[in-house]
This record gives sequence, C-alpha cells and structure tokens, in this order.
Amino acid sequence: MRVGVVGGGLMGSGIAEVCARSGIDVTVVEADQERADAARASVERSLARAVRAGKLPEDEQAAALERLVVTTRLSDLDGADAAIEAIVESEPAKRELFHALDRLLPDARFLASNTSSVPIMKLAAETSRPERVLGMHFFNPVPVLQLVEIVRSIMTSQETIDEARGFAEERLGKRCIEAKDRAGFVVNALLVPFILSAIRMYESGFASREDIDQGMVLGAAHPMGPLALADLVGLDTLLFVSQSLHREFRDPASVSPALLNRMVEAGLLGRKSGQGFYEYP
Ligand code: CAA
Ligand code: NAD
Repeated sequence: MRVGVVGGGLMGSGIAEVCARSGIDVTVVEADQERADAARASVERSLARAVRAGKLPEDEQAAALERLVVTTRLSDLDGADAAIEAIVESEPAKRELFHALDRLLPDARFLASNTSSVPIMKLAAETSRPERVLGMHFFNPVPVLQLVEIVRSIMTSQETIDEARGFAEERLGKRCIEAKDRAGFVVNALLVPFILSAIRMYESGFASREDIDQGMVLGAAHPMGPLALADLVGLDTLLFVSQSLHREFRDPASVSPALLNRMVEAGLLGRKSGQGFYEYP
C-alpha cells in the first residue's frame, strides 16, 4: 500500500512516520524544498528518539526511512492508494488541494483530511466523489497519542468509513472514535474552550502561567498544563479552531482571547516558532 500525506509539518511528519513504521510506503508533499527537508529531518529525529528509547530496533528505523519519500510535487502522489491531507488550517488552501487530489487520484480508496476544524463537507464538495472523503483527525504528537477521530460528512459512504477505520486500527495500530461533521468534532469541542479559558485566566493576571499549568498537572493529572499544550498545538492552529467553533456554535467560551490574537499576529506560535506562552530556545 502507498499513502500520500500532503503537508509535512508537525502533524504530517508524525502521520508519515507512523505509516512508515507500520510498513506502508508513504510520499509526503511539502510546499517547498526547505520545508521538505525539514519534514524529513523531523521524521529522522523522531525515529532516532524511538531507537534511543528502545522502542524501535535500528534495522526498522532504516527500513522505515526507505519507505519515506519527501517531495515538493503533488504529481508524485500519482498511483497512491489513499491520501491524508495535513496542510495549514486554511479552508481555501484545503479546498484547492482536494480539487487537485480528486483529479490526481481517481482510484484512491479514501481522501482524508486531518483538519481540526474545517467542515469535511466543504472539502468533499470540491471533489467528484464526496462519498470517498472523510476526516481522519490524528492527535499531537502522532507517534505517541493513540486516537484517530473518524469524521463522517453527510455524504461519506459506510464503505469509506470502514476502509479508513480499518487502515487506522489494523495497519497503524491506532484507536478510533467516530464523530459527526461539526466544528471541533468530539475532542476539540471539549478541549479548546478549556485551553481558551486558561489563556483568559492568565491574561487577566489571576495566576501565573506556571501556576495555571501546574494546577492542572498536579491537581487534575493532565500530562501537561493548558498553556504548555497551547504551545504544543501551535497558537495559529488554536486560533483557527476557536474561530471555527465560534462560527458554528456562537458559544462565548470559544471566542479567542485578545492575547491569543495578538500573539498570533506577532508570530509567537508556540514551540514551532520558538516562543509562545513559554520560550523554546
Ligand atoms: N515523538 C515520538 N515520541 C515522543 C514524542 C514525539 N514528538 N514526544 C514524546 N514521545 C514519547 C517519549 O519517547 C516517551 O516514551 P516512553 O514513555 O516510552 O519513554 C513518552 O512519549 C513520554 O515523553 P517524555 O517523557 O519526553 O515527555 P512527557 O512525559 O512530558 O510527554 C507528551 C510528552 C507525550 C507530549 C505528553 O506531555 C502529552 O501527552 N501531552 C498532552 C498532549 C495532548 O494533549 N495532545 C493533544 C493536542 S490536541 C490535538 O492534537 C488536536 C488538535 O486538533 C489541535
Ligand atoms: P504546521 O504549520 O506544522 O504544518 C503545516 C505544513 O503544511 C507546513 O509545513 C506547510 O509548509 C505545509 N503546506 C501548506 N500548504 C501546503 C500545500 N499546498 N502543499 C503542501 N504542503 C503545504 O501545521 P500542523 O500543526 O501540522 O497542522 C496541520 C493540520 O493538522 C491542520 O489542519 C491542523 O488543524 C491539523 N491538526 C493540528 C494539530 C496540532 O496539534 N497542531 C492536531 C491535530 C490536527
């Protein structure tokens, strides 16, 4: 089986790594050569980390890297059995890409989006086969977190759901839950308002960033606090998800705090830019 992953950032490189580790040939498409090199380097780093941790034998690391192709040409996906889109959370960019994928991969078993918030139906509507389009929402870091949300649009066929779920569970070893095509699906609809309220608490001066995070780690057994998690997710992605939740439900809890808006405008995007609520030298 050969899978195309479009977008090799935080999520796309993780999805590609998990595919390659599961014995699947994977072609990653990035926007330019610099980002393509960064995507490959990110997979290499993560595989090396798994080897150091004793979770991956060295020969499997080499085999996984052999299954990975990173390119800047979408046409290199020609002949792939399925595609997973993980580009920037921009609706126009994703729509354009689904239009192109539809023409390039007429026989693909499914065209999936890893979007956190764009309605799957909007992407499916760009294709001639909306029944083959669904959401496969992985979680960050992809090699560590088990969940994939399988998102069915009102046009997705049961066959496509079964195919994608079988791929995620049997080939990638993930666990799946199913969600309807509503902003935030299941997890982000619950998680994002929580992170936004932590940002509001910090913005108001009610508690320090460290105390807010330690409070949730030590008092609620979260693996990391909400501000550190915002940095891990990426503040641009968090802002897009909050805007999408608010557009759909008009819930005041999903309004993005002014501080989040200003940080994104300033390019303080969290770990990926080196600074967010914390510094990452
Ligand atoms: N790649 C591969 N493996 C990784 C990794 C990565 N990027 N980061 C950590 N690991 C592995 C480590 O090797 C380690 O494995 P072992 O326990 O087998 O040794 C394990 O994960 C724990 O790592 P660390 O000890 O280095 O660090 P930690 O214990 O602080 O865990 C964490 C780091 C995994 C990120 C953990 O803090 C965590 O799970 N945080 C919550 C993450 C979360 O909530 N993600 C969801 C974000 S929301 C989302 O994804 C949806 C969306 O649309 C925005
Ligand atoms: P990111 O900014 O790390 O990576 C996006 C990548 O897409 C960049 O490397 C960019 O160069 C590339 N790209 C943009 N347009 C492209 C195009 N037309 N063709 C090829 N590559 C292109 O973002 P990310 O955090 O990996 O998020 C990617 C997607 O996954 C988004 O839809 C996001 O909402 C979703 N998601 C993110 C998280 C998270 O925690 N960050 C979790 C689950 C889902």
